[in-house]
Amino acid sequence: MNDLQFRADGRLRHLITLAGFDRGRIVALIERAEALRRDSCGGTRPLDLLAGRTLINLFFEPSTRTRTSFDLAAKRLGAQVINFDIARSSTVKGESLLDTIHTLEAMHCDAFVVRHQETGTPEHIARHLRSAAAVLNAGDGNHAHPTQGLLDALTIHRRRRDAAALRVVICGDIRHSRVARSDVHAFGALGVRDLRLCAPPSLLPERDSEAFPRCALFSDFDEAIEGCDAVVMLRLQKERMDFAAIPSEAEYFARYGLSRERLSRANEGCLVMHPGPINRNVEIADDVADGAQSLILEQVTNGVFMRMAVLAELLGA
Ligand code: CP
Repeated sequence: MNDLQFRADGRLRHLITLAGFDRGRIVALIERAEALRRDSCGGTRPLDLLAGRTLINLFFEPSTRTRTSFDLAAKRLGAQVINFDIARSSTVKGESLLDTIHTLEAMHCDAFVVRHQETGTPEHIARHLRSAAAVLNAGDGNHAHPTQGLLDALTIHRRRRDAAALRVVICGDIRHSRVARSDVHAFGALGVRDLRLCAPPSLLPERDSEAFPRCALFSDFDEAIEGCDAVVMLRLQKERMDFAAIPSEAEYFARYGLSRERLSRANEGCLVMHPGPINRNVEIADDVADGAQSLILEQVTNGVFMRMAVLAELLGA
């Protein structure tokens, strides 16, 4: 993948996965996001770094946060954005994915932001481009969601600079989660050493899975959250489950939900995160999701600045 993602001089060519990202690359993107936050006065002052550039959002799966924040990020940098309407496109007449891409390339565009239910689709597109456009993975199957990993790293970094000393637990539907995979890469590269994954046995990855390097696996959330400095809750992805992985939502919440009582087992001031959308009172209690320790909406805000940073990096501004 590195041959596809990085240019010979090390600069980003496409963004498909965070595998292969080191601390320097993550910190550089975090610093760029913070600089763009300052330069744009928190997003209120338009910038022209990407004036004349065109970005096409190609979302084959629903999205609120990722699609809107890529749209805003590109526009706040001065780019034009096309939100390609899949349901009203000629794909419904049978036009293939690559014919669609080549057609859009023929009108000239600089970047495709791609979300697709099938693992590998952004990589497939990147390998078959006929132009110099960049491909940004906005989530593919259960493989990767790299900008979510980057914005989550930014969110932790803004609160805690002692990554090596942090204990972080990711809890929920790990098996189906592209966010978990990208968070593990991002947090590991940032320097987090104590990284825990917690889920019912049916939703845990295989032990020693290459997708989750150096992670400790837990099936008891009370044990996993003990002494943690950050907890990332994941959504139960019913649309990706092909079997009855959990007995009932109520039982799931009782064993794996983040309640105020369970949060008290973590360290004081433990950061509470969730990529969204949240299933209230299935994986996280209302009073925790809306509580003082919750960074859920801060993650959303940070997502715009991180996507500005990634677009500036990829489009050479
Ligand atoms: N976190 C995330 O990817 O949310 P959306 O599906 O709303 O984009």
